[in-house]
Amino acid sequence: MEHGTTLTQFIIEEQRRIPGATGDFTSLLNDILTACKKISCAVNRGGLIGVLGSAETENVQGETQKKLDIISNEVMIDALEWTGHLAGMASEEMEDPLPIPKHYPKGKYLILFDPLDGSSNIDVNLSVGTIFSILRCPDGVEHPAVEDFLQPGSKQVCAGYALYGPSTMLVLTTGHGVNGFTLDRSIGEFILSHPDMKVPAETREFAINMSNQRYWNAPVSRYVEECLKGAEGAREKDFNMRWVASMVAEVHRILTRGGIFMYPGDSRKGAENGKLRLMYEANPMSFIIEQAGGASSTGRQRILDVQPQGLHQRVPVILGSREEVQRVVSYHNDTDGDGSRQVA
Ligand code: AHG
Ligand code: MN
Ligand code: MN
Repeated sequence: MEHGTTLTQFIIEEQRRIPGATGDFTSLLNDILTACKKISCAVNRGGLIGVLGSAETENVQGETQKKLDIISNEVMIDALEWTGHLAGMASEEMEDPLPIPKHYPKGKYLILFDPLDGSSNIDVNLSVGTIFSILRCPDGVEHPAVEDFLQPGSKQVCAGYALYGPSTMLVLTTGHGVNGFTLDRSIGEFILSHPDMKVPAETREFAINMSNQRYWNAPVSRYVEECLKGAEGAREKDFNMRWVASMVAEVHRILTRGGIFMYPGDSRKGAENGKLRLMYEANPMSFIIEQAGGASSTGRQRILDVQPQGLHQRVPVILGSREEVQRVVSYHNDTDGDGSRQVA
């Protein structure tokens, strides 16, 4: 029976095109797939196995952890620490990088991940996901410190996410376009279902948490106001709005039918750089969006060019259809440094 190209076959064939490739990276990806299948299974069974609800603990960002945040983090660690492909791991749920235990061999890659993204959705049975970013460990470093992880997003070797929605999907880039795979539970394999995904350049759909509107800066307010005015306003067309509160789900929608997603910095104390984390949310998603022909910016700088200062730092995110992102960036260029409208 014909089942299509499996993700394993796809990455092995990609690897064959790279002269001198050792298979190390292919093997690492396979181990990530195994972890995502396990998380998918836990998410899917939810209330049946008692994994819903709060763990009554806080992560380094002071956010209350869900039981599934902790379980997903452990699944990722268990699936990856023994493999010999990694020199270190870092996660949203751990303050410091996790060294590879002494009794396991070390490899040449670093991984950063958000084990469960959109976890506020878990108890209401809506889509969540896992996001990961793979970097090369700097040459000669055997025990990577935080600084070794702090590489700009443009240095990523691979980025991907698993989406646990009506179907479980794995979307991946290694810098040669973006491909989407759907988990066929009958054979336990991810099958290529969305080859060469592209973000449409134009859109009539935006995603932003409108409840923060009163805190936005002038460029973001101007863009959204124009969308809301629709056909009667400067844009001369009507816009639709969506907000899932799960970045994986929003990015997947944008990869499928276009759109713009914004989590800007705002005037609340501590929200100057928004909410999303650079190293394991913004960077991997920006790599994927750019590889699919879209754009990703803080409003003032390409996200992939931001020099990281900390493992858990936040960054304003504006990503999606290229022309829309460019428009928001141009509104930032029209304003002065504090975000207020420049007087001509
Ligand atoms: P996480 O569950 O990993 O903490 O991430 C949630 C993030 C992101 O996925 C989503 O876009 C955003 O938080 C939603 O934030 P609001 O609740 O402020 O809308
Ligand atoms: Mn997240
Ligand atoms: Mn998370």
